[in-house]
Amino acid sequence: MRLLYDSRRRLDPGPVRAADLRRLYAFPARPSTRAVMISTLDGSVTGADRRSGSIGTPADRTIYLLQRELADAVLVGAGTARAESYHPPQTRADGSRLTLVVVSEGGSLPPSLATASTHPGSVLFVTPRSAAPRRLATARRCLGAEHVWTIGEDHVDLAELRARLTGHGLRHLVCEGGPTLLGAMYAADLIDEVALTTAPLTVGGDASRIINGPAAARQHRLAVLLEGSNTLLGLWRVQR
Ligand SMILES: NC(=O)c1ccc[n+]([C@@H]2O[C@H](COP(=O)([O-])OP(=O)(O)OC[C@H]3O[C@@H](n4cnc5c(N)ncnc54)[C@H](OP(=O)(O)O)[C@@H]3O)[C@@H](O)[C@H]2O)c1
Repeated sequence: MRLLYDSRRRLDPGPVRAADLRRLYAFPARPSTRAVMISTLDGSVTGADRRSGSIGTPADRTIYLLQRELADAVLVGAGTARAESYHPPQTRADGSRLTLVVVSEGGSLPPSLATASTHPGSVLFVTPRSAAPRRLATARRCLGAEHVWTIGEDHVDLAELRARLTGHGLRHLVCEGGPTLLGAMYAADLIDEVALTTAPLTVGGDASRIINGPAAARQHRLAVLLEGSNTLLGLWRVQR
């Protein structure tokens, strides 16, 4: 992997080691949320199989895993958890564990997380209070009642969710989309940084861009740019 640009000039352009990558991708001290997404050259978030794995590269995988290592929690929409078969996170080498926070409007727990009770607390499932009681009961049975949060009446109040996560010590979040959740996070002005991989292929078709939904006009400033596996990896900060 090669560093092309570092806005803070901590490192000179050129080859980077694992320790350098940790410095470049460290979260700011304050609570913050970083969107972590990959897009093709023509702006698609998936390949023909409607999954993001098929547009990934080894360099993207390295930076994706690093950011999960540095974060306290992963925030993801239930649509992505279903499409990509998310599983409860594994315990890290130091004994800590990333928390997976899954947001759903309707309250259907993604099937791949139904066995999460074997890792209590590794998955938080968040729905509005209007979610169907039968579905909530299923989620509570699978995850434990204290790991199913109802926040907001008809829609999940994402600002309240972030405040509650911070209160639980989950200060640094990676938001792995998908585009619907990311659109809502932008609309609520809850995204601080974007780590965007540009994969070296075009796919055409009608797949989504990284953000769907309401207008989300924001300016960003480039913080870090890397190249690896013929892929560009940028870290951008939202300007406020
Ligand atoms: N390239 C990438 O980096 C990347 C990243 C992520 C996903 N993807 C791809 O994107 C596609 C999925 O797109 P998507 O837009 O459907 O993903 P999504 O945002 O993860 O899923 C939409 C679903 O998530 C829940 N949700 C989203 N926003 C919510 C909110 N504000 N409040 C409550 N619930 C919310 C709802 O779940 P319920 O249906 O349960 O109500 C909604 O139907 C997949 O093909 C996936 O592979 C690509």
